[in-house]
Amino acid sequence: MINKKVEDILNAQINKEFYSAYLYLAMSAYFDEIGLKGFSHWTKVQAKEEVEHGMMLFDYIIERDGNVDLRQIESPAKNFTDPIQTFELILTHEKTVTDSIRGVAELSEGECDIATRHFINWYVSEQVEEEANVSDVIKNLKMFGTENSILYHIDKELGKREYKPHIYKA
Ligand code: FEO
Repeated sequence: MINKKVEDILNAQINKEFYSAYLYLAMSAYFDEIGLKGFSHWTKVQAKEEVEHGMMLFDYIIERDGNVDLRQIESPAKNFTDPIQTFELILTHEKTVTDSIRGVAELSEGECDIATRHFINWYVSEQVEEEANVSDVIKNLKMFGTENSILYHIDKELGKREYKPHIYKA
């Protein structure tokens, strides 16, 4: 049976992952509204990944004979004004998720739950990748500019993102 403190922080993390999916979906709708189909696709793919991150935690808690506690998901932000501002919001958000994952790692280590400490490493690496991907988009937007002709090309690139499912197996 999983330690209650570890179970609680994992349940909180499920909520953060599903909130992340909501946030990316809100962004996807915004990008679609302003005609950036590739940006919309990219954020929608990310939303699917976030659902998967939540589901991996869900499956893990069950596998450890714990109790899943699905908590209320907040409404996501809607204050998107342009692609750079939106991607900067993503980076800020992902940094808070990284801090949160660090909290899971520290707690599981402190509680000598080596299985969770090992399990959460996947998320540690995922956060490094996510922050790097978002930073790359911000750098491109800042380097090449946001005139319509440039955005057109960046939009085409982002539209190529493929969804690759990660399946958790203990
Ligand atoms: Fe599941 Fe974007 O972190």
